[in-house]
Amino acid sequence: MNTSKQVNVMIGLLFLAFATFGGYILYEVPRAESATERQDELLAHRGAALFVANCRSCHGLMGLGGEEGGIAPALNRTSFLILGETNSYGAPATPEGEARAVHDFLFNTISCGRTNTAMPVWSEHYGGPLSDTQIDYLVTMITAGRWDLVEELGHEHDIATDPPTTAADILISDPAALSLTTKNCGQFNALTAKEFYERDPLAAAPVDGEPTPVPGDGTPAPAGPTVQGLPVADFFLATCATCHGQKREGLIGPALTPSVLTQSADFYFTTVVEGRAGTAMPSWRAAGLTDDEIHALVEYIMTVEP
Ligand code: HEC
Ligand code: HEC
Repeated sequence: MNTSKQVNVMIGLLFLAFATFGGYILYEVPRAESATERQDELLAHRGAALFVANCRSCHGLMGLGGEEGGIAPALNRTSFLILGETNSYGAPATPEGEARAVHDFLFNTISCGRTNTAMPVWSEHYGGPLSDTQIDYLVTMITAGRWDLVEELGHEHDIATDPPTTAADILISDPAALSLTTKNCGQFNALTAKEFYERDPLAAAPVDGEPTPVPGDGTPAPAGPTVQGLPVADFFLATCATCHGQKREGLIGPALTPSVLTQSADFYFTTVVEGRAGTAMPSWRAAGLTDDEIHALVEYIMTVEP
């Protein structure tokens, strides 16, 4: 074999090696992706099964809360989504820090329940029935928004009983029958949870070069009383409306309008300060509102027409 032939053979071998490995790399990437997808699907599936067995009674058959006649708030909401690089919404991936914060919020709330509300403790570390792994399955299902799996498994479950299970069998209608969760490991209350309701992971990423508005840059301070820095009406919408309705028309909790609130202001003040034992109405003093803020809220619901 002369040198030029040897070189040709070498090039040939190199080419062959490249073709094999290159092909392998091209093949390996999609295979790895679909393995992760299958893994995520499996975790969400387990989360959905746990949701069907444990959470539908209060959060609704599809996790839609009050909208479905549940006594607890909706968990089926875009603000709880964590988005990957490729997602069916075409929205940007959730930054890692934010994804971790949402995960920790849900994990902590499910583990610990919520003090002074009907949300029970679920973690076996605090006397509940679920392991950390199981709570992670639930968080995966909620942050992936896999309510389709909840619907599918719920349906399979409900038609398998004789007679078939109905929504009325599942949903708890009398919150007064529930016991309240006492002080525990929970790091969140209805106020600190607010930032997680208000996320909008589906909004487009901020346009580069557009300055972010700085607080105090000429925006006038809201006139009138504020609660946690928000005008009373805005605070009500962001925090109380989950249970009392966007127009204060009543949902999980009763309507809160001047015409139906016929007791004294002191009576409603005490209700908001202490919450109502055995119902979903939490103590807002425990949640961190000051007396002045609670007075402002009571005055608002008793005097301002919706
Ligand atoms: C007995 C009724 C009940 C059951 C069962 C229940 N929850 Fe809750 N849950 C509540 C109530 C009430 C709240 C609202 C607490 C509050 O007012 O801050 C809540 C709040 C939550 C929150 C916080 C959401 C938010 O709006 O801040 C999460 C997350 C949650 N529940 C998950 C679950 C999961 C997962 C299960 C099943 C393992 C479950 N819950 C079962 C009553 C229940
Ligand atoms: C997690 C659900 C939930 C949230 C959030 C919530 N409430 Fe309630 N609220 C209830 C329920 C349920 C009742 C009814 C309790 C009962 O049966 O006595 C109630 C009752 C009340 C009442 C007494 C009404 C009456 O006619 O006796 C007032 C006042 C009130 N809520 C104000 C508020 C305000 C103000 C906020 C926000 C700071 C708020 N609630 C947030 C669930 C909620």
